[in-house]
Amino acid sequence: MIAYRAALITGASSGIGRALALVLAGPGVTLHLCGRNAERLQATADACAGRGATVHARVLDVADAGAVAAWVNAAGPLELVVANTGISAGSGRGAAETEAQARSIFAVNVDGVLNTVLPALNLMRRQERGASGRRGTIAVIASMAAFTPTPGAPSYCAGKAAVDTWTVATAHGAARDGIVMTSVCPGYIRTAMTAHNRFPMPGLMEADRAAAIILRGLAASRRRLVFPWWVGLAARLAGLLPPRLSGALLGLAPGKHALLDPT
Ligand SMILES: NC(=O)c1ccc[n+]([C@@H]2O[C@H](COP(=O)([O-])OP(=O)(O)OC[C@H]3O[C@@H](n4cnc5c(N)ncnc54)[C@H](OP(=O)(O)O)[C@@H]3O)[C@@H](O)[C@H]2O)c1
Repeated sequence: MIAYRAALITGASSGIGRALALVLAGPGVTLHLCGRNAERLQATADACAGRGATVHARVLDVADAGAVAAWVNAAGPLELVVANTGISAGSGRGAAETEAQARSIFAVNVDGVLNTVLPALNLMRRQERGASGRRGTIAVIASMAAFTPTPGAPSYCAGKAAVDTWTVATAHGAARDGIVMTSVCPGYIRTAMTAHNRFPMPGLMEADRAAAIILRGLAASRRRLVFPWWVGLAARLAGLLPPRLSGALLGLAPGKHALLDPT
């Protein structure tokens, strides 16, 4: 695993972001962490500081482009940036997604990624190359939902498809600048996001195991990291079906927590 000396993670107050922060934390490491819930964010910061890291925690909404750009620029130089923040909500079986759900999911899961990654790319292009030849590493936490237009979660799937495609396509040019970009597409991870799901979650994985897999994938300069592979394969195959058929099959699954505020 690469030992990153300076890393920035959005959505570090719980789940995958928190697990990544904890794995990275250690003496000589500086972590910049954000989230909206000050109490949960401070708990992550304290746990990381307890492992010897220097931690700067910031209560921040990733939908606020100006605030995120200022935060990223002030944090630099950065060896690793993880655009991890995401929210999810569903429409419930047979119901329509609300406008509020759709707009908040796109604002956080799509704009929030651009708000984080665009300033990070600009920052890293100005950095010196490290011993590995890299100027920096950027991970975008997308999802296997990118591969399947699931009727119960239209905006979540569409937003993840957008950031996955954007990351993989942007990674090509970024590599010429010495920046590694990886789209991370996990299956089901046990976090607050999946705690509401009342349906079988094949391959459900703990967040700390997911964090270890993600960091190995980044070290290997993967452009897209899909895990567990067999759940990814099933998602890809479902996505290849004709839309009416995939809609009928995927529509059988209960939606995400129906008609709740996106969390
Ligand atoms: N869990 C899964 O099965 C799974 C699978 C594939 C992909 N993913 C993706 O993995 C990422 C992390 O999700 P998770 O499962 O770890 O869920 P989680 O435990 O709910 O974590 C989401 C994090 O994002 C933060 N956040 C939400 N909205 C924010 C905003 N507007 N501004 C700043 N921070 C915000 C939350 O903190 P606050 O509440 O403090 O703001 C929290 O720290 C997401 O992008 C998700 O889509 C998850």
